[in-house]
Amino acid sequence: MAKASPIIELKNIGVQFSQKEQLIDAVKDVSLTVNKGDVYGIIGYSGAGKSTLVRVINLLQRPTVGAVTVNHKQMLKLTPKQLRDERKNIGMIFQHFNLLNSRTVYGNVDFPLMDSQLSAAQRQQKVNKLLDLVGLSDKAQNYPSQLSGGQKQRVAIARALANDPEILISDEATSALDPETTTEILNLLGYLNQSLGITIVIITHEMDAIKQICNRVAVMDQGKLIEEGSLLKIFGHPQQALTQKFVDSSTQLGPALQEIKKSHILPENSKHLIELNFLGDVTEEPMVVELYKRFKVEANILFSNIEQLQGTTVGIMLLALSGQDEDIQAALQYLNHLQVNVKQVNLAQIEVG
Ligand SMILES: Nc1ncnc2c1ncn2[C@@H]1O[C@H](COP(=O)(O)OP(=O)(O)OP(=O)(O)O)[C@@H](O)[C@H]1O
Ligand SMILES: [Mg+2]
Repeated sequence: MAKASPIIELKNIGVQFSQKEQLIDAVKDVSLTVNKGDVYGIIGYSGAGKSTLVRVINLLQRPTVGAVTVNHKQMLKLTPKQLRDERKNIGMIFQHFNLLNSRTVYGNVDFPLMDSQLSAAQRQQKVNKLLDLVGLSDKAQNYPSQLSGGQKQRVAIARALANDPEILISDEATSALDPETTTEILNLLGYLNQSLGITIVIITHEMDAIKQICNRVAVMDQGKLIEEGSLLKIFGHPQQALTQKFVDSSTQLGPALQEIKKSHILPENSKHLIELNFLGDVTEEPMVVELYKRFKVEANILFSNIEQLQGTTVGIMLLALSGQDEDIQAALQYLNHLQVNVKQVNLAQIEVG
């Protein structure tokens, strides 16, 4: 693989707002690097500072402190004219599409080309090519009010691509869409990343969206970046409780735990309920068989979620273990040795909703 080359570098970014004599630290000391060709996901709850942070990338929001480098240019040192040019390299799409309602689909996509150097014929060719790219050639003469949410977002994507940006930022662009349309739009973004090599930054509060197309993930909480890593690392070995929560939300582990607690199906004699997170070749059946063969520990699978993320198996499993104390300890050690992340689950701490 070619060496990763940074396209966006944020260093020690802080953004402070003052409102009614109150200071709000929307972003606190965040540093991150997005490499060329990444689909970089930023996940966090409402108010975590995600939008504020990405607006810093093209200086729609100037940071209170920190350095912003895009394409090896220090954004804070550019003249207004240079900054305008750099911004063309960064397309943005939003939850509410922000289309011009009085213009047709064609007119919306043509709009950012108004001050371009292209001839009328080149411009027309470009708009048609973009509409074709997002699958909307047949809607060129429609107005936004005549489109579905997914179609509106396709127009917004085509418009964001008009100036051939190398970077596309998507701020909750699928939040207003149903799950199927969300998948369609995410697939389109994935296709743009693969076919045109566009670097994509995606903000979301849904882990499922991240899972579909991101290769790297950052987790934000109360203005801070609390965890960052490859999709596989975040999924297979989440370090922070909040990250774990996001991962669980997309594997249905949370509801499963609640169900287990409510229904009292945990075997009476089981001494331990454990959660296993594993990556790669480890699979569930042999693990359970080995626990019995080697340690005489019986393992009941109460829940499992195995999926393929970027060609690697990522699994979560809940096991109820029964056996002698020392055998269980040995079994846990064995699991740790297999590069399986083992965590004791205490049902008393599970809140039943
Ligand atoms: N222009 C502003 N003036 C004052 N406070 C602001 C401003 N913009 C954002 N904030 C505050 O900064 C914090 C972070 O907001 P931000 O919009 O970045 O969060 P977010 O993670 O994008 O949330 P959401 O998921 O709801 O979009 C919030 O407390 C918000 O109220
Ligand atoms: Mg936001």
